[in-house]
Amino acid sequence: MTGNELRAKYIEFFTSRNHVEIQGKSLVPENDPTVLFTTAGMHPLVPFILGETHPAGNRLVNFQKCIRTGDIDAVGDPHHLTFFEMLGNWSLGDYFKDEAIRMSFEFLTNPEWLGISIDKLSVTVFSGDDVVEADESSAAVWRELGIPEERIYFLPREDNWWGPAGLTGPCGPDSEMFIDTGREACGSDCRPGCSCGKYFEIWNDVFMQYNKQEDGSYKAMDRQCVDTGMGVERTSAILQGKTSVYETETFIPLIGAVEESSGYSYGSDEEKDVSVRIITDHVKTSTMILGDERGVVPSNLGQGYILRRLIRRALRHGRKLDIEGKFLGVISRIVIDTYKDVYPMLSEKRDIILKELEDEEERFLRTLQKGEHEFEKLLPNLMKSPKRIIPGRLAFKLYDTYGFPIEITEELAAEHDFEVDREGFDKAFKKHQELSKQGAEKIFKGGLADQSELTTALHTATHLLHTALRTVLGEHVQQKGSNITTDRLRFDFNHPDKMTDDQVREVELIVNKQIQRKLPITMEIMSLEKAKAEGAIAFFADKYEQQVKVYSIGDFSREVCGGPHVENTEILGKFRIVKEQSSSSGVRRIRAVLE
Ligand code: ALA
Repeated sequence: MTGNELRAKYIEFFTSRNHVEIQGKSLVPENDPTVLFTTAGMHPLVPFILGETHPAGNRLVNFQKCIRTGDIDAVGDPHHLTFFEMLGNWSLGDYFKDEAIRMSFEFLTNPEWLGISIDKLSVTVFSGDDVVEADESSAAVWRELGIPEERIYFLPREDNWWGPAGLTGPCGPDSEMFIDTGREACGSDCRPGCSCGKYFEIWNDVFMQYNKQEDGSYKAMDRQCVDTGMGVERTSAILQGKTSVYETETFIPLIGAVEESSGYSYGSDEEKDVSVRIITDHVKTSTMILGDERGVVPSNLGQGYILRRLIRRALRHGRKLDIEGKFLGVISRIVIDTYKDVYPMLSEKRDIILKELEDEEERFLRTLQKGEHEFEKLLPNLMKSPKRIIPGRLAFKLYDTYGFPIEITEELAAEHDFEVDREGFDKAFKKHQELSKQGAEKIFKGGLADQSELTTALHTATHLLHTALRTVLGEHVQQKGSNITTDRLRFDFNHPDKMTDDQVREVELIVNKQIQRKLPITMEIMSLEKAKAEGAIAFFADKYEQQVKVYSIGDFSREVCGGPHVENTEILGKFRIVKEQSSSSGVRRIRAVLE
């Protein structure tokens, strides 16, 4: 069964059980400062798990593109990927553990669906701690379904507790499903969750019961929800009898392309195989980031920085395989062709994707040349010492100032019979990381209210700004992008000219007037057609969603949007535009704050 077939079956199974299919969202979350990328299918649904009404109802199903870079160092082993697709079904206060587990079991084992042998299935449940008791009720359902006691594992929080993705948000105990690949156990304590590759985790049912607060405490939610996630790549590997995600149909042609570019034949050297896998994974992920509806380009900040790191890491492993010249484009084209029917934006952005990859390839080559030059300048001095060691702080300087990866400094050092003081480098690196972490935490503390209240207020301010811009500049103004952190909003919109100072002041004035009017915010669910007929702004509505939410701010603004919003404009305080500048051709960008 291919990934495409698996996706279709999953949706069919859950729609036949009264779930409504909703569209997956962008890889780059909108208005969420807690994470850089969408890390799980539940992520775009967080407001609904926390209590917002979902326009499609309380039983939902979809597939979602996801990126996780926390595991970046594990990428290259048989089951870690930075980009993957997650299938998910949700109950928003509808069914809970019993029905969720029964449906998972049926989909996995019934021959009409996946038909996986029950003998291969092991499950885990939460063993309990001082916040939540052991999950005996889930274990009882698994037992009743025929999973023998010795394959039901009670595991602690590190294994069987999910979320939140950011610092705060919904979370709860989970029950995970593993398939025994048939590999030899790595030892007597090998069990589901062990990383040796014997057990493949393919699905996770999360029982969302708590909202983690900023102070680290857990607040019980008013209603209980279910969030599940099945990995497309891992599950299709199992269904194809493979023991690695890299042996499935979306990776085989990519591996072939690396073989062709390098002349290396996959399977002949374990270390080089790891490089091949890293290249395929990272180029796939980079293609997906560049080809996303809210795609970003390589930079030194946020998502753009992750993208840059992925591309450069792929290039570095290309060097290990002795690839000369450019090779990212060839692999990326295959990714685009493989996924373009599922994610049509990839075709639309084809030229941009390929150009950005090529530009970054060139920039990295220049960095390498510059770094090599700097390195050679350092050599005469280093030669004076008999120890032939490159001090850690020098290696860090090459990294920090020239973006020169430590592995390449090590390569160059080896060529000249030197060794790098890796410990010293790691120390300098860690210190640097701690400093930037402190910086990031400061941003979260600097606000007026807690993180979620503040971003919600800025979201409401964004709607006021949108309508105010249309009032002052004209109805041609449309939102092109929005990004909110805890200390500011950023809003992109189309408009041919720079705004005059008067226009900026007028927009500010209009927004502040609405704030002072203490307008209530209300929400209605209706069809997209009706919303448009009633004059709601709907540029960002999903074309395929049947029912949409329309938020009204008094009589001033009406917009199709997922929420959440504050209840009344009065809590926004004072709105101020900090900057108006060009974003790209024909698109202006405003940064604004609430004071
Ligand atoms: N949110 C859960 C996960 O990502 C389903 O594993």
